Amino acid sequence: MVDICGRHLVTSTFWMRRKQCLCVLPLMIVLYLVLIQYTVWNNHKSINHQTKQTTPQNNGVTMTAIPKVLQLFGKYNTARITTSGMPYNLTQVTERRPNMTPITSDYHKNHFITINVMGRLGNNMFQLAALISCAKRLHFTAFVSPNQELDSYFLVSITSDIKLTNEKTFFEQTYAKYDGNIERLDTSYNWTLFGYYQSWKYFYKDEDLIRRSFEFRPNVSKTASQFVDGFRDKHKTIVGIHVRRGDMTMQNNEMIGYTTAPLSYINKSMNYFRDRYNDTFFIICSDDITWCKENIRGNNDTAFSNFNNPGTVMAMLSFCDHVIITSGTFGWWAAWLAGGEVVYFKGFPRPGSNIDKGMSREDYYPPQWIGME
Ligand SMILES: *[C@@H]1O[C@H](CO)[C@@H](O)[C@H](O)[C@H]1NC(C)=O
Ligand SMILES: *[C@@H]1O[C@H](CO)[C@@H](O)[C@H](O)[C@H]1NC(C)=O
Ligand SMILES: *[C@@H]1O[C@H](CO)[C@@H](O)[C@H](O)[C@H]1NC(C)=O
Ligand SMILES: *[C@@H]1O[C@H](CO)[C@@H](O)[C@H](O)[C@H]1NC(C)=O
Ligand SMILES: *[C@@H]1O[C@H](CO)[C@@H](O)[C@H](O)[C@H]1NC(C)=O
Ligand SMILES: *[C@@H]1O[C@H](CO)[C@@H](O)[C@H](O)[C@H]1NC(C)=O
Repeated sequence: MVDICGRHLVTSTFWMRRKQCLCVLPLMIVLYLVLIQYTVWNNHKSINHQTKQTTPQNNGVTMTAIPKVLQLFGKYNTARITTSGMPYNLTQVTERRPNMTPITSDYHKNHFITINVMGRLGNNMFQLAALISCAKRLHFTAFVSPNQELDSYFLVSITSDIKLTNEKTFFEQTYAKYDGNIERLDTSYNWTLFGYYQSWKYFYKDEDLIRRSFEFRPNVSKTASQFVDGFRDKHKTIVGIHVRRGDMTMQNNEMIGYTTAPLSYINKSMNYFRDRYNDTFFIICSDDITWCKENIRGNNDTAFSNFNNPGTVMAMLSFCDHVIITSGTFGWWAAWLAGGEVVYFKGFPRPGSNIDKGMSREDYYPPQWIGME
């Protein structure tokens, strides 16, 4: 997608600031029209993957203020759903969510909530977590239209092609900032969530449920756990390090606030764990492992992972005791799944940048995580 300020964002996790964007609302509507066509033609496979992944914009639209946009989103959604060949099996959708006890069975069968899955894995996980937690609170049935990536990594699937009627769309107000309006959805409608929902506050009350929802498929977790277990015999504490570089180093992205962590941060965060635990061993993974091998001092307490498959990398990190992250939502989720101590890079997003000004750090980074620079 294209951001409404007209710039092509390559792999962004955030939206531009509202103020700068209000002026180009008509342009945005046109862009969405183009997008809808593009999406339908491409069987909604390509937009959010690899180099073309970007975000739609928060322009402050609400559900009622701009009916035209709402209608477009509705159309977009229907198109996504009808292109699927997956059979709809309500039994499966509800059975796999044991904690979502319906008020009555009929209620559960008639109240649905879904989300437009956009971006790559880290973003998808934020979206799914917000959806599942919201559905549980409302006693709604949650589903997403077919998403091959999520279904290929995780056991639990809520994929379905239900066609909703009487549907409304909820837009989060700002990226990476908790929007409490999500707690006040009118239950006389079906709902589609739209946005990135990059905050632990959307789902922290349902941690167990979310963890179960992100249980890896055995074919994904097996190689990952074998790799980590290979170091467990010899070392007490395993710390995973995710070094995000790739798209974060591109000039356009750097301008608006995306960053990569400097070596001094990686060194400092490693020393934190070395001092804190006896016999710490580090497993480093990255979208630029060559850079890591050349730059991160290979003491005898460090291994590099060559896994490329995002699911395998995520699983591998989640099996570590503790995690060090740099930038991006992928590392965020790996760290959260691991469930131990997390050290994050305070410089992401770059303080004072556009992305930084639009978000809430308190909502994005869990309070118990340790920020370092
Ligand atoms: C739906 O899923 C349930 C549980 O997995 C299964 O028992 C049932 O046969 C499925 N129904 C259809 C129509 O496929
Ligand atoms: C694991 O299994 C799923 C479902 O069968 C498949 O989609 C996926 O490609 C497999 N992944 C790997 C790494 O083999
Ligand atoms: C939601 O959509 C389904 C499927 O179209 C429909 O049967 C149901 O009545 C709708 N629910 C509400 C609350 O309108
Ligand atoms: C890494 O940390 C050690 C210990 O504090 C320090 O001696 C060394 O200079 C640091 N190296 C870098 C590249 O920051
Ligand atoms: C680390 O090892 C030292 C010396 O063997 C021991 O006194 C200390 O309790 C150990 N600390 C932890 C956290 O295991
Ligand atoms: C790693 O190297 C240091 C310094 O040479 C040594 O003290 C330590 O025992 C080594 N650790 C392992 C696990 O080999």
